[in-house]
Amino acid sequence: MKAIQALALAAVVLSTHAVASGDPVTGERKATTCMACHGSASFPGIFPLVQLGGRDADKIATKTNKYRSGKLISPMMNLAVMSLNDQDVADVSAYYQKLGKPFLAIPGMRGDEDILASAP
Ligand code: HEC
Repeated sequence: MKAIQALALAAVVLSTHAVASGDPVTGERKATTCMACHGSASFPGIFPLVQLGGRDADKIATKTNKYRSGKLISPMMNLAVMSLNDQDVADVSAYYQKLGKPFLAIPGMRGDEDILASAP
């Protein structure tokens, strides 16, 4: 019986971990470095073609994790996400999705449709 309870608990812990849901409010605080390059609600960022505002949180998280693991190489990004944990990524991604739209829509900027297309 104890073993079954332990297994059930492990299953709960594991499943919660797998769907680490992000908190946009905490995410805003954690995203200050991201904002410099990827924008915020009031600033397009210094790379306005890769603004993240309004993009799908799952896609942001998936691609961010590829930079964390080194599957994708971009010196700036590898450095920027080095110290994040899974929860940080979920929070920051939730923040960006919640913005609803990029601060400044410009032709040629990346969107949800190609955020993962360029990733191996
Ligand atoms: C110093 C500038 C800089 C910082 C800080 C930075 N990034 Fe980036 N990021 C970039 C650049 C440049 C690219 C495009 C890289 C490429 O495609 O080779 C990028 C790409 C991305 C992409 C892929 C976007 C797409 O459409 O393909 C995601 C997701 C991302 N960054 C998330 C983050 C997150 C989350 C943070 C904060 C923890 C962050 N970045 C911080 C410069 C930055």
